[in-house]
Amino acid sequence: MICLPLFGMAQASNIIVKTAHSSLVFKKENNGTLKQLYFGEALQNSNDYNALPNRRDVAYPTFGTSYLFTPAIRTAHNDGNPSLDLQYISHTQQETTTGIEETIIHLKDPQYPFEVDLHFKAYKNEDIIEQWMSVVHHEKKPITLNNYASAALSLRAPQYYLQHFHGDWATEMQAEEIRLTAGIKTLDSRLGTRAQMYQSPSFLLSLATPAGEDNGEVIGGTLSWSGNFKFDFEIDEQNQLRILAGMNEQGAEYTLAPNTVFNTPALLYSYSNTGKGTISRNFHRWARKYGVMNGLGDRFTLLNNWEATYFNFDEKKLTSLFDDAKELGVQLFLLDDGWFANKYPRNSDKTGLGDWEENKEKLPNGLGYLVKEANNRGLQFGIWLEPEMVSPKSELYEKHPNWIIKLPNRPEHYYRSQLVLDLTNPAVQNFVYKIVDDMMTKNPGIAYIKWDCNRMITNAYSPYLKNTQSNLYVDYVKGLYKVLVQLRDKYPKLPIMLCSGGGGRVDYGALPYFTEFWPSDNTGATERVFIQWGYSYFFPSIAMSAHVTDWGTYNLKYRLAVSMSGRLGFDLVPKKLSAEELALCQQAIKEYNQVKHTIWQGDLYRLQSPYTNNLAALMYNSEDKNKAVVFMYHTQQLFDPGTTYPVKLKGLDPSKQYRVTELLVAPGKKAMCKANGKTFSGDYLMKAGIESGTKRAQDAVVLSIEAL
Ligand code: GLA
Repeated sequence: MICLPLFGMAQASNIIVKTAHSSLVFKKENNGTLKQLYFGEALQNSNDYNALPNRRDVAYPTFGTSYLFTPAIRTAHNDGNPSLDLQYISHTQQETTTGIEETIIHLKDPQYPFEVDLHFKAYKNEDIIEQWMSVVHHEKKPITLNNYASAALSLRAPQYYLQHFHGDWATEMQAEEIRLTAGIKTLDSRLGTRAQMYQSPSFLLSLATPAGEDNGEVIGGTLSWSGNFKFDFEIDEQNQLRILAGMNEQGAEYTLAPNTVFNTPALLYSYSNTGKGTISRNFHRWARKYGVMNGLGDRFTLLNNWEATYFNFDEKKLTSLFDDAKELGVQLFLLDDGWFANKYPRNSDKTGLGDWEENKEKLPNGLGYLVKEANNRGLQFGIWLEPEMVSPKSELYEKHPNWIIKLPNRPEHYYRSQLVLDLTNPAVQNFVYKIVDDMMTKNPGIAYIKWDCNRMITNAYSPYLKNTQSNLYVDYVKGLYKVLVQLRDKYPKLPIMLCSGGGGRVDYGALPYFTEFWPSDNTGATERVFIQWGYSYFFPSIAMSAHVTDWGTYNLKYRLAVSMSGRLGFDLVPKKLSAEELALCQQAIKEYNQVKHTIWQGDLYRLQSPYTNNLAALMYNSEDKNKAVVFMYHTQQLFDPGTTYPVKLKGLDPSKQYRVTELLVAPGKKAMCKANGKTFSGDYLMKAGIESGTKRAQDAVVLSIEAL
């Protein structure tokens, strides 16, 4: 193995991976086969686990012997034998950190020196299970792994409903729910980098009937991996469902040298019999503690200049935007794309990526000057980078043609006029690390980075990997993580936004190194209501950057209300705002600062879905139930007399009295919601509810609710 001492070696043949409300049970059979007996609500009495009937569900199915469905793992041995048989050898179980129990089940082929460990981390209080697989062999020559799933999960129910999240640039995370039928439904990605642009590595799987927000049995899963992924949902002839989750092995059959441990990324999953709302709150609680960098900490409000200037700026324009940022009341100015490269200046998206020195025409005094000017105004300064990429028109391209992913004997294939650097190569990893490290060493005042990744991999070929080309997709992401680990060792606190041409890379493989992510370049308010709704199933609001911009034709109050439900920022030219509009933005920032901790750290309740209602509504409640913030968005174009119906709040203390205050009400303007300024019991707010008072598209109401 993977050899570990047998801590807490269990005697019973059942192995139970247990969180507060769920359990996953395995059984070792006398012939050595490891079966999965159960996954569902935790049983109260541990003796009852002995009553579970035997199953044919192999815990981690292999290819080539008697298993007839999609295997979790497939390989051929050095002697040409194409089969694998994995038998239980031992397992360990111990609480590694308070509240986290780790289980490792060691399996081995009885005939070949080929070993697999199944790893489980049970986060007790958060009700999350993290599962991955590691494999090692001691055969003489390398072997090829054809399949290598992180997790295999068996479920039995009369019907299965799958909700998944897909889209494209500017339409990320659109939710769709389908009933699964016999055969295989696959969700996957083959994009390499920016891997999730078309499909998110996340799902909700309901058992028996489609689960609601508060009812029904449902499993939520998301893969901690920023590269190609694959989920197979396979229903067999007995109507049993098997979920296989992991990296996508298509074009990525992995060559594994002897005595080298290969780790797969973790599938994170959670079981609930109280609907999808519980799943989201579990993921959010887990993520703030373990899944997102500094998830319990603070975030900057900021002004970004991307939509405000695009590539067209100079020091004067920027420092004038600093003044605007100051007047607006945000904490940081974020300088976007276009600030670098001299031989091929970055004046459009066609040139300069890779040449990370200040453009002398636009910034003759360098970044240091901008940091100083921002700081002089009491602002922090942040900067955009796209470190994994290269423009064909760049000095980097000219100097290091061997650092670029592209096929020999084929024309170069561009997307956004750029190519991807070969992060499997340690020299490239070092180059990417140094882009950040050199910049931070020279300008230690830089307080924030936006890390972008604007294309996928096509014409996949690594000059570095030579004859193990199909390791590229896996080794690229592992190379990226190596760089991020190194950066975090040196810069443990620096806030970094994870961006990928919008939301092309949002997953818990990358988020431990990032404080927040950019959900979409689409900042149109109504579109954002849907996009943010999709992400909210798995990712907490503290990580969700939401900027008020001029995209679309939405009124300012509506735009502010939508952005305030995440990490608030702006990307517009404040000088173009009227005095009234500027005042509303200033008021929004002040009010946001009062309620942001409830939004960031609170429990999310999705009250009314934009998919089925003219009025979308959600709320965040503080853990002690003393504070809540409610957001209501009238998204549809038609006048809607229906919104005279009350919206019932959730998660409050029925016995407490709460005062309702409407935010974003400009001085001299009337509140929209009649409940404004009134006091109600939690019981009333949850049973009788409150009417939003919204009437037409783009009406928005934000309510702060405080216990007396
Ligand atoms: C991507 C990002 C945008 C912006 C541009 C700059 O598209 O998603 O927010 O930073 O790159 O080129």
